[in-house]
Amino acid sequence: MKILGIDHVAIATDDIDRDAPFWKYILGINHSSREDVPQEGVTTDIYDTGRGKIELLADFGENSPIKRYIEKRGKGIHHISLQVDNINAATAELKEKGIRLISDEPKVGAEGYEIIFIHPESTGGVLVELAEKPE
Ligand code: CO
Repeated sequence: MKILGIDHVAIATDDIDRDAPFWKYILGINHSSREDVPQEGVTTDIYDTGRGKIELLADFGENSPIKRYIEKRGKGIHHISLQVDNINAATAELKEKGIRLISDEPKVGAEGYEIIFIHPESTGGVLVELAEKPE
């Protein structure tokens, strides 16, 4: 697998509107998009430095994993996302090496990226997302 760089750092929040102004106005990072991703139960609010993004994550809908995450572990860094050249090849390689994944197959996430999560048990305690950018 080829890692192309760090795509984003995702931060779990219980209130995007309260937390976004820090990234937007204090740090002055360009707002790139806000998007509901119902299949993942999240709303994403993305700030793009041009060399890596900050992605605020809030719960969306019933049974959101973000809501459960905040209840369990509190607000703060939720995952880091690494961009890969080929998500299907990366997934197959991780499975072959016995790495624990959160889902069996990649899914479409925010900004149309295809993503898969690696369980923190396999990474030294950090939820890691691999993401392939859409064409
Ligand atoms: Co992400």
